[in-house]
Amino acid sequence: MEEELQKLTINEGKGGNESDIELSSVISLRLLDLSDIDDFMVWASDDKVTRFCSFDSYTSKEDGINYIKNTVSRHPWYRAICVNNRPVGSISVTANSGNDKCRGELGYVLAADYWGKGIATKAVKMVANTIFDEWPHLERLEALVVVDNAGSQRVLEKAGFKREAVLRKYLILKGTTRDCVIFSLLSTDPRN
Ligand SMILES: CC(C)(COP(=O)(O)OP(=O)(O)OC[C@H]1O[C@@H](n2cnc3c(N)ncnc32)[C@H](O)[C@@H]1OP(=O)(O)O)[C@@H](O)C(=O)NCCC(=O)NCCS
Repeated sequence: MEEELQKLTINEGKGGNESDIELSSVISLRLLDLSDIDDFMVWASDDKVTRFCSFDSYTSKEDGINYIKNTVSRHPWYRAICVNNRPVGSISVTANSGNDKCRGELGYVLAADYWGKGIATKAVKMVANTIFDEWPHLERLEALVVVDNAGSQRVLEKAGFKREAVLRKYLILKGTTRDCVIFSLLSTDPRN
């Protein structure tokens, strides 16, 4: 599928730490495969990263390999977020069927060393700018964020999503029932 949706310069117009990543670095989205397992494990095994995720940190490479084989490779829309073609995170859109097929759910995760540089925001914008063309039946892209995951809420706001509501006691995360904020972007919404 698309090798690179779009190339964008990291830190462009943003006060990120430019010494960490060269200005010439580019963010791209591409399929994740088994050869990416070591990069995948960097974020998937980090409790700091998985704190707000529905999955627990991966503790074995074998489990990571099985996840890529059984879930990632069969997923309708799962991409590695890459810096200079090296995976540093992932982003996915989960499809619905039947009467719910008008909406899809966005999810993303990024290795901690890459936080705070605008990478997730750019990856979300790249998906928002392409997914409605790829999936013409899709009218709404939505994302659910635990209330105290302020960074992720900010990402969605910066990417043009509308904060709709707080869903009380919406899901159980790491054994605790949590309130979530629901965000959406419609196919007809203006892009920024
Ligand atoms: C959430 C996550 C994807 C953000 O990625 P990122 O590349 O660091 O995000 P960006 O740099 O594009 O933007 C982050 C924004 O949140 C802000 N932010 C980060 N942490 C914050 C906090 N604790 N409180 C308030 N704002 C915060 C940043 O300042 C930035 O906003 P700004 O550009 O206005 O300054 C990343 O931290 C991550 O992978 N976290 C763990 C997994 C996760 O939570 N996934 C989402 C599940 S819904």
